[in-house]
Amino acid sequence: MRVAALLMAAGRGERLGGAEPKQFLPLLGRPVLRHAAEALLRDGCVDLLQPVCAEAERGRVDAMLQGLPARPAVTGGATRQASVHAGLEALAGDAPELVLVHDAARPFLPPGMVDAVVATLSEAEGAIPAQPVADTLKQAEEGTILRTVQRDGLFRAQTPQGFRFPLLLALHRQAAPGATDDAALLEAAGHAVRLVPGSEANVKITLPGDLERMEASMLPQMLPR
Ligand code: CTP
Ligand code: MG
Repeated sequence: MRVAALLMAAGRGERLGGAEPKQFLPLLGRPVLRHAAEALLRDGCVDLLQPVCAEAERGRVDAMLQGLPARPAVTGGATRQASVHAGLEALAGDAPELVLVHDAARPFLPPGMVDAVVATLSEAEGAIPAQPVADTLKQAEEGTILRTVQRDGLFRAQTPQGFRFPLLLALHRQAAPGATDDAALLEAAGHAVRLVPGSEANVKITLPGDLERMEASMLPQMLPR
């Protein structure tokens, strides 16, 4: 089975702020995106990376991935969904059997997770890592609770999300904008998406302070070297 992985790096990191998008910030001296790329390749079942980034950043993304099995970066879109679609179209000429979609802002993807996602695709059309919700959930409006949401059966979705390539490409070609992740496109079309165990370590850099907190924690020990 040929397996390609989209490395999603076309976001601007608006919640984090700052001049530099979060996927390019240094983490232990190397760009976050480079760590995410090496973590994707570590299990040995991904053959090829396809980075997706802003037009102006293609050159430096290619440089950041030097020495890895990566195609030249392609230009993403205004939404993550549009960016994923662009990456899939770039792979379509020499289509792989399976595709993973991973956030470049998740550098701490742990060993074994890529393997677990890919292995699960032998029995389902989609597979995603997810963590059960541990906290009590409240629905609120203007700071006042409306109700408590039952958390039984609720999970937090992570990446890498894995799919049969032809199916994900077909769904993206016909999708209306607005899906929150790729699995949602399969769910809406009635395809089975299996959960594999996520990890507390597999955090996405999102808010100011996240990167500093991660750097000061035990997480750097999880990075590939
Ligand atoms: N992403 C992308 N194209 C977009 C938006 C997001 O490729 N148009 C990528 C981001 O680069 C990131 C991943 O999707 O690696 C997850 O998105 P998110 O955490 O929302 O990143 P940003 O959109 O960059 O951040 P924010 O929403 O705070 O602006
Ligand atoms: Mg975003």
